[in-house]
Amino acid sequence: MKTFIIAAITADGFIAKDDRHSPFGWTSKEDKARFVKMTKEAGVVIMGRSTFETLPNALRERRNIVYSRKANPADPKFAGAEVTQEAPHALIERLSKEKNHAGDPIQSIAICGGTSIYTAFMKAHLVNRLYLTIEPILFGKGLPLFKEDMQIHLKLIGAEATANGSLMLEYDVNYHGTSGISTENKQK
Ligand SMILES: NC(=O)c1ccc[n+]([C@@H]2O[C@H](COP(=O)([O-])OP(=O)(O)OC[C@H]3O[C@@H](n4cnc5c(N)ncnc54)[C@H](OP(=O)(O)O)[C@@H]3O)[C@@H](O)[C@H]2O)c1
Repeated sequence: MKTFIIAAITADGFIAKDDRHSPFGWTSKEDKARFVKMTKEAGVVIMGRSTFETLPNALRERRNIVYSRKANPADPKFAGAEVTQEAPHALIERLSKEKNHAGDPIQSIAICGGTSIYTAFMKAHLVNRLYLTIEPILFGKGLPLFKEDMQIHLKLIGAEATANGSLMLEYDVNYHGTSGISTENKQK
């Protein structure tokens, strides 16, 4: 199972100014195109209730799985979404036996934020790829990508700069190894 995080961040590391701030207004067209392509290929998106509420409706042609403790699945604003409170491992285990929106066995799952959901899945050691778009913008303060202490090594496997200055990165997540960072600081 490929489980990946996909996120756009500012050059100072924020995913939003607050929990109602949609990425739609500040992310590049290249980032939006990558998000649509990758999440449609996966066919399954997982997100928190706040992120879902920034969308006009459930994402079409994808199973929308929304974390919430208080949402009423019968509420029309959750139309097209499956509401869950499952532990991340239990959810991934269940989905690995189910079908995606197209009716095919699920082979890939997109973790679509926000901070609380990115953090829960990364801390549960369930993420094997991280797709980040670093947008050329600063917020100064806001919601970080993750909000808990961690030390997880990444291996850069793809990097592309767009004409407008967005940096599209793909990392392999290595929970047990190292990223080969040289931490030596030789005195000259
Ligand atoms: N830049 C990007 O790429 C990007 C991507 C995604 C999101 N965002 C932004 O991130 C912001 C939202 O992030 P956020 O961290 O504040 O909120 P979030 O992760 O989207 O949603 C938080 C909500 O998820 C539910 N939840 C979280 N953990 C749960 C658990 N273990 N069990 C059951 N429910 C759980 C709770 O819903 P209830 O309160 O209903 O119980 C909680 O209030 C928005 O501004 C959004 O636009 C940015």
